[in-house]
Amino acid sequence: MKSLVILGSTGSIGQQTLDVAAALPERFEVLGLAAGRQIDLLLDQVRRFRPRYVAAADEAALAARADALRTCGARVISARELSTLPEADVVVAATVGHAGLEPIVAALAAGKDVALANKEAIVAAGPLLARVARRTGARLLPVDSEPSAIWQCLQGEVGTPDEPHLATLVGLAPSGRAVARLILTASGGAFRDWPQGHLSRVRPADALRHPTWRMGPKITVDAATMMNKGLEIIEAHWLFGVPYERIEVLLHRESIVHSLVAFVDGSMKAQCSLPDMRLPIQYALTFPERVARPSVAHLDLAAVGALSFGHVPPERYPCLSLAREAGQHGGTYPAALSGANEEAVACFMAGQVAFTDVAPLVAAALDRHAPVWEPEIDDIRQADELARAVVRERAAAAAQPVSAVRAGAERSDAGAAGSA
Ligand SMILES: NC(=O)c1ccc[n+]([C@@H]2O[C@H](COP(=O)([O-])OP(=O)(O)OC[C@H]3O[C@@H](n4cnc5c(N)ncnc54)[C@H](OP(=O)(O)O)[C@@H]3O)[C@@H](O)[C@H]2O)c1
Repeated sequence: MKSLVILGSTGSIGQQTLDVAAALPERFEVLGLAAGRQIDLLLDQVRRFRPRYVAAADEAALAARADALRTCGARVISARELSTLPEADVVVAATVGHAGLEPIVAALAAGKDVALANKEAIVAAGPLLARVARRTGARLLPVDSEPSAIWQCLQGEVGTPDEPHLATLVGLAPSGRAVARLILTASGGAFRDWPQGHLSRVRPADALRHPTWRMGPKITVDAATMMNKGLEIIEAHWLFGVPYERIEVLLHRESIVHSLVAFVDGSMKAQCSLPDMRLPIQYALTFPERVARPSVAHLDLAAVGALSFGHVPPERYPCLSLAREAGQHGGTYPAALSGANEEAVACFMAGQVAFTDVAPLVAAALDRHAPVWEPEIDDIRQADELARAVVRERAAAAAQPVSAVRAGAERSDAGAAGSA
């Protein structure tokens, strides 16, 4: 029986983690739940799963439900306390964005295994998370479907059963041994078939219609810009210790192959399943075991018929190049990239800027960034805040400055590496 703490339990990943826990009650106990602002949903979850501890960013709204929580036997504590509870075996990090970083650092510092969905945290603070995890022996277990696929493909190739978590975080060097390339697959997002000229007119509701996955709003917009894949390049770099030039992106519309590893002998391994996040969530939680979960739909390749693969057109997805460059620069550049992107996506969702302004706004923040090369958590926080401030300033200054920075973004795209 593992005791789970779920940060971001009211979100898409959080709710699917609870589905997994509910389906495997003999394996998982829900010890603590943390939400942002959806307190009614949190309360429903508390009634159903009876966690001993709860936290929420909206502390006032949570305090207003104190009686109901007490009746269910749940104590209100902070997200930080929740992530370091002595009784917790695994902390599921399913908060979206930079807000999730500090509880993750606290969990790793307390020696807790972290099942990581919150990719923005490892993007902003990869070296810091790696350092803390190495010091305490805590593991970062990938939840995101692409890193999970790579993790699954690497089983039996590097590491040993008692060093299950591979790569840099346990001091292994797969890049120097069997692995030639990591290949992340990308669906292309909501606008993959739209004429490029129409992209400046898309509405937030259009961006939320992902062709294959049902996810939270921020990651769905990131999938449409392909910033999501850019963040995953940086995530994979830190999780698996493979240099950026050997991490590629492959367009794969069907979202059946979740990623691949190419080996030095010319072999490739791919991990396939139906697009259902409960599978990688469960794999992280039961690792190294694979467990049958009732009522799971299995992949029928004959029914799928054909799978397609292709190159990513770089001119269509400038965010991908921006992310790769930020990762290659290192230091606080990825934190600035991620903070700027979070803010630019929020501005787009609020109708303040166009979809095609997201990349130029991020590029403007990166242009203005003054990096710290070996950052501590305060440097990362500051990089995030300053990058957001640049984006807010540009977005508020209406059309002219946004189109002015677009020229800057086009300049950086032209010089970008871009494997896709
Ligand atoms: N969804 C997927 O299929 C998927 C796949 C791979 C990776 N991921 C990654 O997993 C993470 C979560 O994604 P998601 O799609 O589940 O997002 P989501 O549906 O938007 O959920 C986000 C969660 O974070 C909470 N939250 C937001 N702001 C917060 C704050 N300031 N403080 C504390 N909690 C806060 C939300 O709480 P309230 O709702 O209560 O406000 C919610 O529980 C992201 O990093 C994403 O990139 C998601």
